[in-house]
Amino acid sequence: MLDPLKFAKKGLIGLPPYVPGKPIEEVKRELGLEHVTKLASNENPLGPSPMAVKAMGEELLNQNQYPEPGAPELKAKLASKLGITPEMLFLSNGGDNVISCAMHSMINPGEKVILADISFPTYERAAAIAGAVVVKVPLRNFRYDLSAMRREVDQNTKMVVVCNPNNPTGLLTDADEMRAFRESLPEEVVLFVDEAYYEFVEAPDRYDTIDAIKNGLPVIALRTFSKLYGLAGLRLGYAIAPKELISVMEIVREPFSASRIAQAAAIAALEDGEFVRQSLRLVREGRRYLEAEFRRLKLDYLPTQSNFFWVRTGVDSRELFQQLLRMGVIIRPGYLWGCPEYIRVTIGTQPQNEHFISALEKVLSR
Ligand SMILES: Cc1ncc(COP(=O)(O)O)c(C=O)c1O
Repeated sequence: MLDPLKFAKKGLIGLPPYVPGKPIEEVKRELGLEHVTKLASNENPLGPSPMAVKAMGEELLNQNQYPEPGAPELKAKLASKLGITPEMLFLSNGGDNVISCAMHSMINPGEKVILADISFPTYERAAAIAGAVVVKVPLRNFRYDLSAMRREVDQNTKMVVVCNPNNPTGLLTDADEMRAFRESLPEEVVLFVDEAYYEFVEAPDRYDTIDAIKNGLPVIALRTFSKLYGLAGLRLGYAIAPKELISVMEIVREPFSASRIAQAAAIAALEDGEFVRQSLRLVREGRRYLEAEFRRLKLDYLPTQSNFFWVRTGVDSRELFQQLLRMGVIIRPGYLWGCPEYIRVTIGTQPQNEHFISALEKVLSR
């Protein structure tokens, strides 16, 4: 028998695996259910952008050819939409891979990466694989405690990650606080702002990462085609950053990290204004409906700026997860983040939201 410990890099064995939302197919198979509502992975319940689907179909016949590694057409389109230049963009195989590329290209073993506890778990894994010393600063009342994070910054610190809005809370960090925080950081410290849910923000005042980046600050903003554009299965995410930081990330990017189909789909999705409007409307209407239902059920929830809610149910989320599953509803239990009485639930279509609420009400009334 070979011993994995002898082969793995130091610190890798024992890293907790990423726990994805339970797939619909698995639940249908295991429980023999025909109708399953998945509200566990913050996916777009309307499906993919129809214009993207059409473009993917048309691109199928070109699959014998490698994609253009620099994705010039997509970058030009994105850059003009964002008011930046294409050199300020890094495209890759999902936001997850953007996180890995940033950490693997910038962090030397032993350098400090400061994260919030609780947030998206991928940062910790990517930082640990890069050999970083990970410092996790607890949220305060579920909000980022930027002062406490600032106190952790020392000469050995390379990166601070802020997920904005945060996953799993859905909360946005105050724009003035973010600006002051960036100003207080040393020049060599990278501020990585994960904006995977950026498009769902309704609050008028949000930290403007692009403005900071245009001013030459070492800020990296992560965005993705997985959520608003309904292309999670396709795997396409991007970073916006000063071109000098992009050039560093490019060193570790695999040459064809954005496939031909992904590039074609993304170009079309950016044109699909109707789908974007429908998706945003659905999230906004779903927010109002679910907020009213949570109030009716006397459940505490956080005022989300995203496409999911963080809700305190007052019961063990492990048990609640199983009971909801048996009724065909998949949510994300809070114990995964060390909050056993909480759940994270994605805003779905109105019938999905109603399915979730009726199942939740039944379970809680038992
Ligand atoms: C906060 C956050 N960042 C990044 C991602 C990664 O997104 P993707 O790899 O699908 O682009 C997710 C996905 O759920 C997320 O919630």
